Amino acid sequence: MTTAVQKAPRITLDDAVEFAAELYGLHVAASALPSERDQNFLLRTAAGEQFVLKVANSEEDLDFLELQNQLIWFLAEAKVDLDFPRVIPTKALDDIASITTADSQYFVRLLTWLDGVCFAEIKHPGRKLLASLGRALGQMDAALVGFSHQAAHRSFHWDLRNATVARDLVGLIADDRRRLVERFFAEWEKVDWGSLRFSVIHNDANDYNILVRGSTPSEHRVSAILDYGDVVHSATVCNLAVALAYLMLDKPDPIGAAAQVVAAYQEIHPLTEYEVDSLYTLAVTRLCFSVCLAARQTRDVPDNEYLNISNALAWSLLKKLQDIPFDWPTRVFRYACGMPVVREQTLRPRRTQAELLTARRKQLGPSLSVSYESPLHIVCGSRQNLFDAGGHRYLDCVNNVAHVGHSHPRVVRAATEQMSILNTNTRYLHEYLVEYSEQLIATLPDPLRVVYLVNSGSEANELALRLARAHTNRNETLVIDCAYHGNTTAMIDLSPYKFDGPGGHGCPAWVHKVSLPDVYRGKHRGDDAGTQYARDVARAAKFAETGGGVAAFFGESAVSCGGQIILPPEYLRAAYAEVRAAGGVCVADEVQTGFGRAGTHFWMFETQDVVPDIVTLGKPIGNGHPLGAVITTPEIAASFANGMEYFNTFGGNPVSCAIGLAVLDVIRDEELQQNALEVGEYLKCELRLLQDHHPLVGDVRGLGLFLGIELVRNRDTLEPAGREAAQIVERMKERGILLSTDGPFHNVIKIKPPLVFSMKDADVLVSSLDSVLREQPH
Ligand SMILES: Cc1ncc(COP(=O)(O)O)c(C=O)c1O
Repeated sequence: MTTAVQKAPRITLDDAVEFAAELYGLHVAASALPSERDQNFLLRTAAGEQFVLKVANSEEDLDFLELQNQLIWFLAEAKVDLDFPRVIPTKALDDIASITTADSQYFVRLLTWLDGVCFAEIKHPGRKLLASLGRALGQMDAALVGFSHQAAHRSFHWDLRNATVARDLVGLIADDRRRLVERFFAEWEKVDWGSLRFSVIHNDANDYNILVRGSTPSEHRVSAILDYGDVVHSATVCNLAVALAYLMLDKPDPIGAAAQVVAAYQEIHPLTEYEVDSLYTLAVTRLCFSVCLAARQTRDVPDNEYLNISNALAWSLLKKLQDIPFDWPTRVFRYACGMPVVREQTLRPRRTQAELLTARRKQLGPSLSVSYESPLHIVCGSRQNLFDAGGHRYLDCVNNVAHVGHSHPRVVRAATEQMSILNTNTRYLHEYLVEYSEQLIATLPDPLRVVYLVNSGSEANELALRLARAHTNRNETLVIDCAYHGNTTAMIDLSPYKFDGPGGHGCPAWVHKVSLPDVYRGKHRGDDAGTQYARDVARAAKFAETGGGVAAFFGESAVSCGGQIILPPEYLRAAYAEVRAAGGVCVADEVQTGFGRAGTHFWMFETQDVVPDIVTLGKPIGNGHPLGAVITTPEIAASFANGMEYFNTFGGNPVSCAIGLAVLDVIRDEELQQNALEVGEYLKCELRLLQDHHPLVGDVRGLGLFLGIELVRNRDTLEPAGREAAQIVERMKERGILLSTDGPFHNVIKIKPPLVFSMKDADVLVSSLDSVLREQPH
């Protein structure tokens, strides 16, 4: 390859101008563009048209140049959502011409210039741009499966199979750096190339070859992947590996950024498990190539700057990666692909489904139910996927606890690292306790400034009740009909969903139910439903005076067990005003709805334009780790500080706080609230289209990724279709999609998936639901 670089053409700008006129009849100004072993010129006509004149290395085969042209034509025709240059023929209609200079003969081609900004120039590529890169690469690789050309089957030094070419150069690198590169090459040695898929690949999606369009960061999209001079028939995954190697340069969180590209790629052109497992090794191998070849470059051709462009950045990235446990990026990439993060051997079940069911029935309290007619034995989760003992994958559309995704590696790492350092109670000082409280408070409006950390949603509501009682010196409590607030004695008393249901004891004297503000089947359905329903709250508050006055109004900010009810506008504003006027405090139960699920807001209560006096949190807060929180005002907290200590053995322990911090970090870094908004809105629109074809679908409602589909047998009488809803949930499960039902008539299908739910998941859900609904008798 030294010879190839050394034999790079050296024609002058004047020559380029002359060849353009002679061969293409173009009168242009020329400027040089960078290239490792060819020579490229930007040509501009007086009219502003722009072209790239590509003068190939004198060693380049005509065959290979033909391959490049054919590849451009092929991809331009394929379903690849990118721009491709046009190949401009000469005056003699040749797609490839030949020029002769004093020292050699070169092939030249003329391509149209594509506008755009280099990816490398975008300092902080956002989630959308990273996803668009993943999609672009996925589409290109998927299309190229159908492309073949003899010239691609070549031995090429930048083909990652040929790492020995680079490895032989490690002697040119200083000691400490050499050891680092050797360690990564040792990993490359283990790659089983026979287990990888092969195809023609671009092989050089470096950040200077990727063009981006869009004027603002949120509009940035990959518009083109340029330069087909490194095309080779090799392992398909190498194409992605090369792109990741350059993408990771100069990034604060290189693996996190790479994972976003991998996740989007996976949706278009799914990787095999072994490809995912090899991806990181291949990406670092490319970096090692780069630094080794740059070392030789510096020795042989010190004036060719091309290879040095990314050399310093490659070294600093390699050093950064050296400090990361080698298996970590693969875990992150497996997660990004929704694959089990741990290897399959670990997941082998030790008992059959029937054995587990029998043992469970014998040993566990019989009041515990199990989902589905044929219960699932789930052994593993990743992202929005669950896997059963037989290895079947299920799309989880209902688990709002695994908020940032099942087994998210950052959450898992936060938990295991802190668990291996320290886990104690909150009577010691600890950074995480303070840091987590600060960060949680920062998500909430004033005056919600005081935190109590607990272990569950029930415990959070239980404490909220105590706070309200201490502050008001009253007991009476208002609650929305059909609501569920927890499993403790007081919370069952406060949950019509339970006390009005089987085995329930009815409404306790200190509890006052207000109507479920349901605009679909409730008593108020018009534009003023919010204020109408709030009158019910006023009435209940008045009634509570007979028992000494209202202490609190408990309300979910969107009612989940009540059937995914979205509160009508003005409801909470008017209700809170009534409760406060009656001397009570307002508790927002955000156990189901918080942490960005609403899409437009981080907290669901914000969609109602209110500030509660107490907010309770649970489920998503720890992504599956038992954690809960109560946040209130300094005044209410002061009323509660009456001399009796509030101590909680586990609440706020360092492990829980580390997990809570990781969850907040992931929501921010992966822009999950925005994802909830975009995917949720899309899903709601698609479900509403289903409603047009299926009379059974009476209502589709929701905010962000908190959605409900209410099934009715008759759209006039609203006769609930509970049995049909149960059947549909069973059928969807058979198709690998997990849903559940709720609402007073069990006829509402709940959709509240992990927030990593994608557009593709939404499509899968809707098309399966469409098929299953078609099976229903009309
Ligand atoms: C709205 C609401 N609040 C509180 C709880 C109780 O939370 P946990 O089960 O964590 O005690 C639940 C549980 O389903 C809930 O849905």
